[in-house]
Amino acid sequence: MEALLQKIEAYRQEINDYAGTGAEAAEQFRITYLGTKGLIKNLMGEMKHLPADRKKEFGQILNDFKQFTEARYSALKETGSNGQQSSAAAIDLSLPGDTIPVGSRHPISMMRNRIVSIFQRLGFSVAEGPEIEDDWHNFTALNLPEYHPARDMQDTFYISTDPAWLLRTHTSNIQIREMEKGILPLRIICPGRVYRNETISARSHCFFHQVEGLYIDENVSFADLKQTLYFFVKEMYGNDVSVRFRPSYFPFTEPSAEMDISCQLCKGKGCNVCKYTGWLEILGCGMVHPKVLEHCNIDPAKYTGFAFGMGVERPALLKYGINDIRLFSENDVRFLKQFTGVV
Ligand code: DAH
Repeated sequence: MEALLQKIEAYRQEINDYAGTGAEAAEQFRITYLGTKGLIKNLMGEMKHLPADRKKEFGQILNDFKQFTEARYSALKETGSNGQQSSAAAIDLSLPGDTIPVGSRHPISMMRNRIVSIFQRLGFSVAEGPEIEDDWHNFTALNLPEYHPARDMQDTFYISTDPAWLLRTHTSNIQIREMEKGILPLRIICPGRVYRNETISARSHCFFHQVEGLYIDENVSFADLKQTLYFFVKEMYGNDVSVRFRPSYFPFTEPSAEMDISCQLCKGKGCNVCKYTGWLEILGCGMVHPKVLEHCNIDPAKYTGFAFGMGVERPALLKYGINDIRLFSENDVRFLKQFTGVV
């Protein structure tokens, strides 16, 4: 009896470690252990040689061993010993496949693309520039020398190990880099991310996006600037929107202006978004300052040009009815997936 029990234990181990896979191996397993001439039948035959008082105990152990073997057999039939689907029959080809989630475009990218494509239709081509910039391209060449008070409005982040490098405060650095290439005439639209050292709130962030435009050629006038921007506003906001230019100051343009459109939400009547003025400021613009042209080795007596710069976040907030700028950069899929299928 003891020898038999030891044998069962050894077989239990063997069955547990059975390494075969696939339908053929399962069948082999059945024949070896569960078949009419198999191990279990064989062990049952041993029963008659045991003393009468041990028969019951042995019967129970054998029964338990049989159940264990059967369970191993059904597992083997379904899967290989490595746990993977093994037989062709186990794959149900009629089941629907796993759907691959389709992402959505970010609302900032959608708005940027809208803006850029309108100018592309006017012959502007896209130019980009570095976000980590030097003082010259971000400030000095744009007629914003060191200690110029206008620098205060564009405080940024400096690289502590080398303060000659900073995070650009506007996309105007691209103007300089493109003009320095010396290929004229130049007609570019420049989208990009910019940085400011500002307190983060629902209305402002330490980084945001801008689109810059620049057109340099002989005889470019303020009338060209206005006509270009009128076209943009009509394409972007529709025919019934009003536009106004307010005189302003930027060191890199002279004269300079800010452009407002009639508030899209209250249709000019006054609401808390337009601070009850009926107008929304959407961009800054002007005629490129002669000093800026000179910094890029362009002769201001021969060439003139206009430039403009606008934020992307504000029009996106308005268009998609979003009330907090921080949502754009939190990467919350519950927010982002609401833009699936939106253009
Ligand atoms: N760089 C300006 C800013 O970030 C925006 C701007 C104003 C860009 C006038 C221009 C411009 O090109 O002509 O506030």
